[in-house]
Amino acid sequence: MRNHILMIGLSAAVLCPIGALAQEGDAEAGAAIFKKCATCHVVDSDKNKVGPSLKGLFGRTAGTHPDYKYSSAMKEAGEGGLVWDETTLRDYLHNPKAKVKGTKMAFAGVKKDDEITNLIAYLKQYP
Ligand code: HEC
Repeated sequence: MRNHILMIGLSAAVLCPIGALAQEGDAEAGAAIFKKCATCHVVDSDKNKVGPSLKGLFGRTAGTHPDYKYSSAMKEAGEGGLVWDETTLRDYLHNPKAKVKGTKMAFAGVKKDDEITNLIAYLKQYP
């Protein structure tokens, strides 16, 4: 019976209380999604790769990780007040080039909301 309720919860994620739980995000599922980012980003250390380290991302002003050469688009976004939190990151990951016009992050984006929720839960493990 419980499994049955869970199935319904997953298919009606928006309406069901189990759906609300899913909003918390599943860090383990997020780890799998992070593989898409890992070509260019690390999150468990301050090391910059093709992209800046994402350790301690939440609360960071866009374009300010030390020793990383950002595009002027990303630096200007930060100067314009862009700070990474759940809302701004969600927007950005949906469509990086729409959120920060001219960013050099060559990534099409993550279309699914629940994938972004899980990814955020994963990234938050690395303050
Ligand atoms: C092909 C390489 C690549 C991939 C894949 C990629 N990124 Fe990026 N990312 C970059 C680059 C390059 C920048 C710097 C952008 C700039 O300066 O305009 C960046 C910047 C960012 C920033 C801004 C960081 C800051 O310090 O302001 C965030 C957040 C980010 N990426 C998250 C992600 C996440 C999450 C994923 C996976 C869903 C991802 N990126 C996938 C290359 C990539």
